[in-house]
Amino acid sequence: MIILSIETSCDETSFAIVRSENDHLFVEQNLVASQIDLHAQYGGVVPELAARQHTETLIPLLTELGIARDGSDIDVIAVTAGPGLVPALRIGVACAATLALLWDKPLVATNHLEGHLYSCWLSETTPSFPAIGLLVSGGHSEIILMKDHGDYGVLGMTRDDAAGEAFDKVAKILGLGYPGGPIVSKKALEGDASAIPFPRPMQHSQDYDFSFSGLKTAVAYHVKEHPEDRVEDVCASFQEAVVDTLVSKTLKAVKAHRPASVFLSGGVSANKHLRNTLETRLKKLNKTISFHAPELSYTTDNAAMIAAAAYHRYQKGDTTDPLTLIADPNLRFK
Ligand code: KG4
Ligand code: ZN
Repeated sequence: MIILSIETSCDETSFAIVRSENDHLFVEQNLVASQIDLHAQYGGVVPELAARQHTETLIPLLTELGIARDGSDIDVIAVTAGPGLVPALRIGVACAATLALLWDKPLVATNHLEGHLYSCWLSETTPSFPAIGLLVSGGHSEIILMKDHGDYGVLGMTRDDAAGEAFDKVAKILGLGYPGGPIVSKKALEGDASAIPFPRPMQHSQDYDFSFSGLKTAVAYHVKEHPEDRVEDVCASFQEAVVDTLVSKTLKAVKAHRPASVFLSGGVSANKHLRNTLETRLKKLNKTISFHAPELSYTTDNAAMIAAAAYHRYQKGDTTDPLTLIADPNLRFK
């Protein structure tokens, strides 16, 4: 089966062609046009500008895929249908629905976060069930218990800022630019992670929830009171606090639910310190639980992961009427 997938929920326009063979997924193409430079000057994503840019990028990217004009080499069309910025979602959904109607192909409306989870199913070895997933992106921080394909629940989530959002806001406080994650983690390489004892919010609470807003405020106060501190040390100490909090809560869920595998996903899963710390501490806890993280190109928003999630929805017969989707491009909000 060949899936054409489209992602426009935020600030990347992305198209992918993914082939399935005996339940294995192979990414034939994954084109991503990032709008980071456009939004960087505003310090964050501007929804209307994102939508306009998606509109401009859409057709050139679709053309670059080089698929047949009559869609004869495509079996299924998948698209992100929330959560995301509605003006941005609308562009991808309009394109996917139009192609589905034109070519008379099944359309699969996909949840963006489910897409992030499925980025770990684009590798040769995939997580086995039950699995605990740590999903950390610019908009979400969640611990997920996945019992089977499409059968998952949220064990814990952030009460305020997401992990990626905290990286972005700390970068803004330090005047480092946008998006913050890659810049802060690069600075952290040259810093001392034990220099500043930033708080680990909610680390000892009974639930699996996070809160990163207080940590961000602690960084803001600290740099005001200690302008002499090295930026590298602030970055390393902040990153350490985020990673420690995320890993501790994930391992708490592992101890309670005894999964066969643990996996990481979302934009923040590009963070090497997070990958290494989670894997090392997991192996210390239990060597038999496998650890999975997506290839770097599938950590931030991309259409290949949307195809992976859509593949499993399609297996269950989950397709959507194109006109219903055009009326509500945020259909898979939850
Ligand atoms: O998943 P994603 O592309 O978009 C959302 O769905 O939100 O994630 C983007 C987020 C941004 O907040 C960015 O700062 C963060 O992922 N990020 C990182 C790293 N690379 C990207 N955070 C920490 N370390 C990184 N290396
Ligand atoms: Zn995302």
